[in-house]
Amino acid sequence: MAEVNKSSLDPLSALCKRRGFIFHSSEIYGGMPGFWDYGPLGCELKRNVKDAWWQFTVRSREDVAGLDATIIMHPKIWKASGHLDTFSDPMTMCKDCKKLMRSDQIADILADQKKKPQPKITGSDFFCPYCGGELTEPKPFNLMFKTVVGPIDDPQNVAYLRPETAQAIFAQFLNVTATSRMAVPYGIAQMGKSFRNEVTPRNYTFRSREFEQMELEFFIRPDEAVELQYGKVVTLADNPDLNGPVQDDWGWEVWHKYWVEQRKKFLAAVGLPPSTFVEYWQKPDELAHYARACVDIEYDFPFGRQELEGIAARSDFDLTQHQLHSKVPQTVFDDPLKQACKKLSDAEKDAFIAKTRTEWIARREKTLSAKAGKPVVLDEADSAALAANAEAFCRNLFEGKYVPHVIEPSAGVDRLMLALLCEAYEEEKLTDEKGKEDVRTVLHFSPKVAPIKVAIFPLIKKDPDQDRIAREIFNKLRKKVNCQWDVSGAIGRRYRRQDEAGTPWCITVDAQTVQDGTFTVRERDSMRQTRMNYGEFLAMMYEALEF
Ligand code: GAP
Repeated sequence: MAEVNKSSLDPLSALCKRRGFIFHSSEIYGGMPGFWDYGPLGCELKRNVKDAWWQFTVRSREDVAGLDATIIMHPKIWKASGHLDTFSDPMTMCKDCKKLMRSDQIADILADQKKKPQPKITGSDFFCPYCGGELTEPKPFNLMFKTVVGPIDDPQNVAYLRPETAQAIFAQFLNVTATSRMAVPYGIAQMGKSFRNEVTPRNYTFRSREFEQMELEFFIRPDEAVELQYGKVVTLADNPDLNGPVQDDWGWEVWHKYWVEQRKKFLAAVGLPPSTFVEYWQKPDELAHYARACVDIEYDFPFGRQELEGIAARSDFDLTQHQLHSKVPQTVFDDPLKQACKKLSDAEKDAFIAKTRTEWIARREKTLSAKAGKPVVLDEADSAALAANAEAFCRNLFEGKYVPHVIEPSAGVDRLMLALLCEAYEEEKLTDEKGKEDVRTVLHFSPKVAPIKVAIFPLIKKDPDQDRIAREIFNKLRKKVNCQWDVSGAIGRRYRRQDEAGTPWCITVDAQTVQDGTFTVRERDSMRQTRMNYGEFLAMMYEALEF
């Protein structure tokens, strides 16, 4: 969009408050850092973003099923997932001003301090960037919100508000697989609230303590299963058609790239074309130890380039962890795989096991080397343990059994809304025929997510025919989409009010409507007015709203 004020969030946040998109939570009591409420326009925008994601990810596909799980789940889930032990930020506190800080966020300032003399002589190496006081040693601070289930406030009854929606998908994998009549490769999608006790919530709604996620866990066969069944694994080097139908012989690398492309298509459909974001492919040393690849889609927010969402290839880590902790096997049975393996001779099976062992050891060494920044060779014991695992895994495959791998596209509703608001916001300079300059504030939302789709006005509110016909149109249209009725002020002012709300179309009923049923449709971005009848308007609107 032209002329967007990208340097500051202030004009946008002022508009969001003034027009009822976003309010501070509990504002009359002074607000709560990291908690935000969506007002009348904000909650419509949010609903549209979520509906668009669900339509795109679940309903328009044959290979994704939905789930709506509880926010509070068995605490063992968070032990198995690793959140209890490792989901933390390093935190430090100033002993003087008592300010809490994330050590990683002030790392640059601390590194700088090493080079300069400091204002106070204390026992610490580092000093508070705010008052120069002594800082405590950084300590990990777990980001999960704790609560107590039941009336007795006892450590045994401690539970957690989920920090991500994903884990419920893994915990319900067997139930959904059994009831959805879907087989791997297939996905389970969930959206809903997540909670993180962020040390420093900031940048408006970007890093909140209560937010919503839209997550898909797309389960795929391990590459070794694909190879046994199809005799080959399609990789990116084979140039697969990622815009056509999905294929059973794709390996994880192709599935991962496919979902990156799907996410880009979705973002474009809701108003963020690829020119507005960058793909950041995490480097091998940045990846979690179980991850094969991870792409962050980053957007240039007014406060800098930041992650909008991520697409991770998480191997079989999550289901394997739940299998270990719950003792409930998370394997699927793949009959076509078993039938394919029946045709293999013992010698062929042995050769496959030997090849798998070598590949697993090489892969582990590559991962460790990337993290260490130097070549790492596994010692004999580690090699033997990995080789034994590889053999057990292959023998299960020959029986048609495996724990599925997963590709995880994970997006934040609030973060996407913020990006859509930033992208849509424009203070547009206008000059009329007489040379008079003016500024109109407009939100150029895609019609698919716009909170109000159509505003309907009688040109002259006191004209009973115009009022009656406009009401008839309003009453018919509001059964289909969110509409707004507005009779107050001059027509130009009514248009400007809708521009600020991001309404794509305004219908004005005038004297000619009374004669021939046509009305003017004013399009928000071009401000062009076109005469059409009700049927023509509906066809145009539906085309713009369709995915
Ligand atoms: N299951 C994977 C997962 O949760 P993540 O990168 O921690 O991965 C995924 O979160 C997405 O959720 C992020 O890309 C972001 O859009 C959103 N998100 C995460 N923390 C958030 C926060 N504190 N406030 C708002 N959105 C957040």
